[in-house]
Amino acid sequence: MLNIEKLSHRYQQKVALDQITFHAEQGIIGLLGRNGAGKSTLLRILATLQQPSEGEIFYHNQASIENPKALRQATAYLPQDMVYPAKLSARDYIHYLLRLRGNSPKAGDEWLEKLGLGSVAHKPLGSYSGGMRQRMGLAYILACETPIILLDEPTQGLDPWERVRFHEYLAAATHDRLVLFSTHIVSDIEAIAHRILIIDQGKLVFDGHPQTLTTTSAEPSWQIEANLPIYGQGYTITNVRREIAGSVRMRGVGLPIPRGATRVATTLEDQYLRLTDQERIV
Ligand SMILES: Nc1ncnc2c1ncn2[C@@H]1O[C@H](COP(=O)(O)OP(=O)(O)OP(=O)(O)O)[C@@H](O)[C@H]1O
Ligand SMILES: [Mg+2]
Repeated sequence: MLNIEKLSHRYQQKVALDQITFHAEQGIIGLLGRNGAGKSTLLRILATLQQPSEGEIFYHNQASIENPKALRQATAYLPQDMVYPAKLSARDYIHYLLRLRGNSPKAGDEWLEKLGLGSVAHKPLGSYSGGMRQRMGLAYILACETPIILLDEPTQGLDPWERVRFHEYLAAATHDRLVLFSTHIVSDIEAIAHRILIIDQGKLVFDGHPQTLTTTSAEPSWQIEANLPIYGQGYTITNVRREIAGSVRMRGVGLPIPRGATRVATTLEDQYLRLTDQERIV
């Protein structure tokens, strides 16, 4: 469906995307990366709101940078900084957004209902919690009925309950579409993504099934009780816990396993932090 070829983007001197290439069909893909990694830039370019400095996007083999019409019509995009006008009701706002796209507003009512907002759809958005606003955003996106859905940090600021709810709605409603969502929260990926793209400083550093990252990893995770930090030795420290007795328990990734450390099962979080560790001394 989508072929992204050597997409690069520069803001003045700053390289935000560096030769990103991947192919995507139906399914839920998580785009994981640190703050400033380039996630929003990539999603904005795919949403045809911004042109890349270099590269091409093929939608059903059609070059879409110069001629974005088909890709734009096929895409619904929820920006990271979506505006929710406080005085408008969810229903009025969703109708407005759908009419702007030339869609029927009726689907908006149906999705508000399905996402558990039917009884509050008449209330102003200013009275909504963050979780309700994100669900309203998702209702709009699903009502667009497009084959491609782009969500920029849709679970940002949600409490664990709303987060789980968001995952469930998204997974249930989108099995026949391509969903690309960005996050820097690893558990979002574990919950719903079939594939993970990790970008770091504009580069695609991993593309594959989340499990591949933990099962084929050459570098082990370990735990150590240490009063002296072991930073600066080529290790990635993924967790530090101060025990009541005053000692420090550290979790890390890397070889050789430090003396006195116990090997532990690695996690997606460990391997993600290892891949995007910019302070690592190799
Ligand atoms: N309009 C802009 N002008 C200049 N630099 C920009 C602009 N937008 C983004 N950048 C820079 O490009 C890089 C990538 O930014 P981007 O917003 O795409 O990252 P991100 O992965 O979405 O980050 P976050 O997790 O904080 O949302 C960053 O270094 C950012 O400072
Ligand atoms: Mg962003």
